[in-house]
Amino acid sequence: STVDWEEASYDTAGHAHFLIKEISEQPSAVERTLSGRVDERFATAHLGGLNLDAREARAFRRVKILGCGSAYYSGELGAQLIEELARIPAHAEPASEFRYRNPVIEADTLYIAVSQSGETYDTLAAVQEIKRKGGRVLGVVNTVGSAIARECDGGVYLHAGPEISVASTKAFTSTAVAFALIALHFGRVHDLSPADGRRICAGLKALPGQIREILAKEEEIAKLAAQYAQNAGMMFVGRVRGWPVAREGAQKLKEVSYVHAEAYPASELKHGPLALIGPELPTVAVVPDDELVEKNLTTMGEIRARHGRVLMVGHTAPDPKYAEDCILIPKNEPELDPILLGIPLQLLAYHAAVALERDVDKPRNLAKSVTVE
Ligand code: AGP
Repeated sequence: STVDWEEASYDTAGHAHFLIKEISEQPSAVERTLSGRVDERFATAHLGGLNLDAREARAFRRVKILGCGSAYYSGELGAQLIEELARIPAHAEPASEFRYRNPVIEADTLYIAVSQSGETYDTLAAVQEIKRKGGRVLGVVNTVGSAIARECDGGVYLHAGPEISVASTKAFTSTAVAFALIALHFGRVHDLSPADGRRICAGLKALPGQIREILAKEEEIAKLAAQYAQNAGMMFVGRVRGWPVAREGAQKLKEVSYVHAEAYPASELKHGPLALIGPELPTVAVVPDDELVEKNLTTMGEIRARHGRVLMVGHTAPDPKYAEDCILIPKNEPELDPILLGIPLQLLAYHAAVALERDVDKPRNLAKSVTVE
């Protein structure tokens, strides 16, 4: 089923910008992505559009996810969800690289193309290359009937609603939710237990309410953004589940505020970028309460020891010696936490752009949909 969008979707509806309107719409966008797809009784997800029966879904040995920019980063979250819940090796790659390197297409790999617009030329070209070589490709797409959606063998529509601002926010979050549904579905045709399936179903259902709780922190985040925006650059770090979140956080900040932002896996800092750390380069550390929290605190300690300011986004306030500032968000299931951790970083980027008086919805040099090579 598809949703008809009123003309009102194309109006800022009293918000200062489309970007903050779309950030604020995420609870309902996620509700629509989930609608009718979570089956608590059998602890699975129903995704009829995949056009795969259980036997076909079991036959794939690998998953390769392709997208550009934020769609690629949401694909990295997706790959992690599929590996964690279904234990199928999964990997994301920029579609723009994939299409140029004469990729090996394998019959037992499932390809998934991600695109908000469904019109990104590099992603479309990657899909066409896969199909030319006989591969099976699904789409995770927001725009119904778009070129990429039409080219794919099946897929999942996000139903996030029209996204007008150049920077993707609600489509990013809805894509991550769609991947959680795909991972749950694949998990349950493999070895994910009914108990774990139910745990994920409950976690998915809790997301919209928890997103509302994060949005309620906008004022607190706006204050931090106005301070951090005064720096020429920022570092973003995360480990495993926090790593794609850090990448997307850095992308959002540079895109809308033009503040230089670098993202590194937290454990890579000591292999080079630690040389950059000092009072002039603050760090955003994405630190979920998972089995890696102690490792992340150690990294934050290393940054503080070099007089770098740390803004931690996570679940539990650490000892102040690890972080000067902290944004705390509600805890979900460990596998789903990354979906929520991205939202404060969207607000941080938005308010940094507002503080710096940038052209928030139409950042310089960028187009909403890149339909050229
Ligand atoms: C996101 O904030 C960017 N504007 C950009 O990276 C975007 O995600 C990318 O161009 C892909 O667009 P698509 O999802 O429409 O394919």
